[in-house]
Amino acid sequence: MIKKRSARSTCPLGGGGHSATLLKALGPDACVLGIDRDGEALEAARRRIDDDRFEAARGNFADLPRLLSGRDIDAVDGLLLDLGISSHHVDAPERGFSYRAEGDLDMRMDRRAPRTAAHVVNDWSERDLRDVLYEYGEERNARRIARAVTEARPLETTTALAEVVREAASPREEVSTLSRVFQAIRIAVNDELDALERILKAAPRLLKPGARTAVISYHSLEDRRVKRFFRYGNLRGEPVRDLYGNLISPWRDQTRSPVRPDDDEVEANPRSRSARLRVAERRDEIPDRWSPDG
Ligand SMILES: C[S@@+](CC[C@H](N)C(=O)[O-])C[C@H]1O[C@@H](n2cnc3c(N)ncnc32)[C@H](O)[C@@H]1O
Repeated sequence: MIKKRSARSTCPLGGGGHSATLLKALGPDACVLGIDRDGEALEAARRRIDDDRFEAARGNFADLPRLLSGRDIDAVDGLLLDLGISSHHVDAPERGFSYRAEGDLDMRMDRRAPRTAAHVVNDWSERDLRDVLYEYGEERNARRIARAVTEARPLETTTALAEVVREAASPREEVSTLSRVFQAIRIAVNDELDALERILKAAPRLLKPGARTAVISYHSLEDRRVKRFFRYGNLRGEPVRDLYGNLISPWRDQTRSPVRPDDDEVEANPRSRSARLRVAERRDEIPDRWSPDG
């Protein structure tokens, strides 16, 4: 059980790589709380990390306020959000995240959650599907693809969906279209942007003054939200100033441009290619007039 003292929260957990690295760097009194929606990720992290300064908890990081108060923790010294899906998700065909291998249309990070990719693909209206592809995949041919998918219903597997998308895609853009469509459906299944916005809004009040939040994102929809929030303190991405012209924000942005992996890192870990890291520091005081909505 975590005692009432300073804690570091790393969320989410994935395979536990970041948590293990943090624990190496931290002192004997530190606590690391790793959070993941995915029960398999938690098991992997528990197998990997045998350290009584570490706790793995199942949950949505958007619920961090509740997860912390349930442990009698008022505020943490650091928050790390490594977003998106893990290598395990991509490499396990039965989880349905990859268009390259046959699996059920699942895509849930939390396998207890009621909504699967099959629901989105087979039950949502053509219009809703089009909006998902357009908004979460930034797919220009969203209309054409949504029509093709609804005409081919019911679709049971990842490969059946991939086949329909391939046929509807422009010939030279098959692979990028498949990536965008699978990404879009995955974001809808897991409500990923809502979770990110909720934790970003809650984060300033969960951190001690001077504590830092680091976010690693993997696509522009996430990175844009993090950038706006860290730079301006709100999700609208517009500066709100006080009478003296000071920005009303709980953050001191530490990364004007995101940190990206160098060539060596991409060679060693090709999946890091799209990663963008941004960091912000909590100011000493949260301004009275601050609102996360701008
Ligand atoms: C990129 S992986 C994390 C890898 C991890 N940092 C490591 O070192 O192994 C992302 C993980 O975040 C989890 N995840 C994504 N969104 C989440 C959310 N809203 N709440 C909790 N976990 C989430 C996924 O289940 C996945 O395991």
